[in-house]
Amino acid sequence: MASSALISDMEAWKELKAHVEDIKKTHLRDLMNDAQRCQSMMVYDNPFQALEVEFDGLLLDYSRQNATLATIEKLFKLAETANLKQKINQMFGGEHINSTENRSVLHVALRAPRDTVIQSDGKNVVPDVWKVLDKIQEFSERVRSGSWVGATGLPLKDVVAVGIGGSFLGPLFVHTALQTDPEAMNSASGRQLRFLANVDPIDVARNITGLNPETTLVVVVSKTFTTAETMLNARTLREWISAALGLLVEKFGIDPNNAFAFWDWVGGRYSVCSAVGVLPLSLQYGFPIVEKFLKGAASIDQHFYSAPHEKNIPVLLGLLSVWNVSFLGYPARAILPYSQALEKFAPHIQQASSFRSSLILLAFFLWKLCVVSMESNGKGVSIDGVPLPFEAGEIDFGEPGTNGQHSFYQLIHQGRIIPCDFIGIVKSQQPVNLKGEVVSNHDELMSNFFAQPDALAYGKTIEQLQKENVAEHLIPHKTFSGNRPSLSLLLPSLTAYNVGQSLATQVRKQLHASRTNDEPVQGFNFSTATLLKRYLEN
Ligand code: F6P
Repeated sequence: MASSALISDMEAWKELKAHVEDIKKTHLRDLMNDAQRCQSMMVYDNPFQALEVEFDGLLLDYSRQNATLATIEKLFKLAETANLKQKINQMFGGEHINSTENRSVLHVALRAPRDTVIQSDGKNVVPDVWKVLDKIQEFSERVRSGSWVGATGLPLKDVVAVGIGGSFLGPLFVHTALQTDPEAMNSASGRQLRFLANVDPIDVARNITGLNPETTLVVVVSKTFTTAETMLNARTLREWISAALGLLVEKFGIDPNNAFAFWDWVGGRYSVCSAVGVLPLSLQYGFPIVEKFLKGAASIDQHFYSAPHEKNIPVLLGLLSVWNVSFLGYPARAILPYSQALEKFAPHIQQASSFRSSLILLAFFLWKLCVVSMESNGKGVSIDGVPLPFEAGEIDFGEPGTNGQHSFYQLIHQGRIIPCDFIGIVKSQQPVNLKGEVVSNHDELMSNFFAQPDALAYGKTIEQLQKENVAEHLIPHKTFSGNRPSLSLLLPSLTAYNVGQSLATQVRKQLHASRTNDEPVQGFNFSTATLLKRYLEN
């Protein structure tokens, strides 16, 4: 493709454009009747086998997208037209794919195993990465063991990480996800990690309340060390400590030995796997837990690099986003994790995500835009500066289920069409099974996870409501049109490892029945039954 050519001028794009009308005529209810289609739209992959770690793999079900197998074929053709595979190779090969800044884009090097070779400008960058990781490990162990103490000689047990944007959202997401993981909780053993981002002094007040300046370590997280909010907050905390301890600090006073480097080939929004995230998280949970997180992220990188398009979960997610936004014209996407531990997932993805970083990369190439969900996707020009004649990028928002169900789900069921990404976890971090209750608390949560995509796809017709004897005047209020796209992603659990890879998916009674008597699941379409089966098998 000529460098200034737009993807929308290409044959593959035009074919998809023409295909939109066919799809608009077909209701998802009918598409879901095709078991073969549904089967083909389920991708199960265990990208972790290669790393010889115990993990049951991810399951992506995208059968509830407004798409046929022909649509997916056309999307693959679009990916080919955009030279996606070649671009992926260029990224992993350290080529300067960040053309506006003339830099490599190598956040994958941040979590690459020690013996990997990833070149940038003729130099293998992996040894430098591990030099910093080793330094973080040593430092965090000294702080955690109490051999590295505060100004008054007391051990440092709490940490405030001061940073904003990518220097805040990624680490906050991971910390929030790990907070209730038993292994991580055990390692945290009473330590606290807090994040100060907003220049609003209320954020300062909230983050220092209850902390002792003698036993608190402040970590200033910034790629540039010039960001106004971060610098002001850092000065504010310095004063908090020096005033309390009666110290006089003339200069900023950070010993270069206590600085942890990262490189210009890491975009701020992808920096969670650098010292930006690894340092505060290692101080809180210990380096071994954070190393598992890095391995999880590395496994998704490997999957993205090597899986063929039809089995490549990030590639599929990226192509479906392009289909929904640029062809079907749906401007938003709801991110709906059925896990409170993932409550900071949507805010993180709004800026960028590790889980989606490969997806973002894909979008980057397909649209020839520097698209990041959503920090940069306001740009209306291609990577060559040509104005785009189509909409690109999506408005991401979300809430954990079931909370969201009591806030904006009415709108997504009956109002505007918003493609939804449902994410479910097979094993809860904190299972609860109350005496006398038919289903466990986690099963209750998951029954909602399974039911919502079907409700969006199938809707509820006037005839169904009449059969249920719903009063005539209420029927318009209770009718759901259905035909609303969603996808489901099922993860086995939420350990540090899975959090790493999640960073790069009216069951109730039936759920219980199938748990107790092993009968095939009744009353579900093929795809829900398959998802449910995998859930129940674990
Ligand atoms: O405004 C966005 C941004 O540039 C992010 O990309 C970055 O993570 C954040 O600001 C903070 O910048 P820094 O890490 O340099 O303080």
